[in-house]
Amino acid sequence: MEKISIQLEKVFGFIPKEEIYGYAAKCESAQEMLHKGTGKGNDFLGWLNLPSSITEEFLNDVLATAESLRSKCEVVVVAGIGGSYLGAKAVIDALSNTFSWMQNDGNPKVLFAGHNISEDYLSELMALLQTKSFGIINISKSGTTTETALAFRLLKTLLEEKVGKEEARTRIVAITDAKRGALRTLSTQEGYKTYVIPDNVGGRYSVLTPVGLLPIAVAGFDIKQFVAGAVAMEEQCATSFEENPAALYAATRNALYAQGKKIEILVNYHPKLHFVSEWWKQLYGESEGKENVGIFPASVDLTTDLHSMGQWIQQGERTIFETVISIAQPKETVVIPQDEENLDGLNFLAGKRVDQVNKMAELGTQIAHVDGGVPNLKIVLPELNEYYIGQLLYFFEKGCGISGYVLGINPFDQPGVEDYKRNMFALLEKPGYEEASAAIRKRL
Ligand code: PA5
Repeated sequence: MEKISIQLEKVFGFIPKEEIYGYAAKCESAQEMLHKGTGKGNDFLGWLNLPSSITEEFLNDVLATAESLRSKCEVVVVAGIGGSYLGAKAVIDALSNTFSWMQNDGNPKVLFAGHNISEDYLSELMALLQTKSFGIINISKSGTTTETALAFRLLKTLLEEKVGKEEARTRIVAITDAKRGALRTLSTQEGYKTYVIPDNVGGRYSVLTPVGLLPIAVAGFDIKQFVAGAVAMEEQCATSFEENPAALYAATRNALYAQGKKIEILVNYHPKLHFVSEWWKQLYGESEGKENVGIFPASVDLTTDLHSMGQWIQQGERTIFETVISIAQPKETVVIPQDEENLDGLNFLAGKRVDQVNKMAELGTQIAHVDGGVPNLKIVLPELNEYYIGQLLYFFEKGCGISGYVLGINPFDQPGVEDYKRNMFALLEKPGYEEASAAIRKRL
């Protein structure tokens, strides 16, 4: 099997190769800290050897649960937010037919809730579910996240009204901490099928646990291939600096950051990768953005956004670099037809595949951006399938762990995420927040 590859040539014009490779020692020491568990946040390293520790038996159990939901449900709603949402969404979107929501392809539709608190969203979702047979996968590591718990309360009530409490129990799966949290208590009481999110795997590193695996399997994708891809990348990323794509990525982005490139834009040329960028933004943003440092992770879908953000990227403040995810071979083939009248002037493209045009847009944009002062990294996937997406996600996780340690921060905590919750609870007068409620009211 091929591997995804990383191309750095279009960075070397900005930072000499030797300077980037000068980060080898730092990256190798970061790698050692990860593997020996001697760095900050070392109680959250369960993701590191996770792919190779997943057993066939465990995957078969996940597949059996998925099959049970698939056999009963036209729609399965995944309730979760952040790391309990984005991994599954990213993989399902990347692998799905773009228009599968309009088609009956034999797979249940996987929808998401609990990643916002929009009354319209929840109301519209529940109105839709009234007309469908549905099930729920409720995902929350802490088991106490307000967005998720709120969505689950509404969905559970609706499901129980529709099919009765007994049947609802067979259509609800909870994925949460082994012991702690309201979701664990509720699941035990209700007798739901549950999976554990290991203590030592943080939310944004959890896509290779049932958090990602179960929804991906419900959507009809091959989780064994997904895990196999991640295992291959786990092996690749345990090698020495020059062979280790995650270390090369970490070195390059840290070298660029040190030279004032404060923003990294993740670029794709296939819109079905949009949520891979959203997942990546959480992974890198939440891992590195702390202690007043960290590259700001942004993303664009091209060529769409060349007609909106293209101007800024080409000529705005020169504090950016870009990382392109390139797909060597798309799944489908569309050949551009000849037209006798050629009124649109496109006959010079006749006989070519649409992807040839897309690739020339990619190449032309790369050259334009490099000319405009934007260093360009490229990650090439041979194809968009379960195996290579598994490789890609593990590659980014390992790159993030190494990069965070090179940057000198703890890439596995997220202390800043609590601040909005404290204010929201104070404003909602949650019991226990009386003092905070009084204080925040004075500020309104
Ligand atoms: O990466 C993280 O830790 C967060 O994004 C969490 O996944 C998110 O806040 C949801 O938390 P929980 O799974 O506890 O509901």
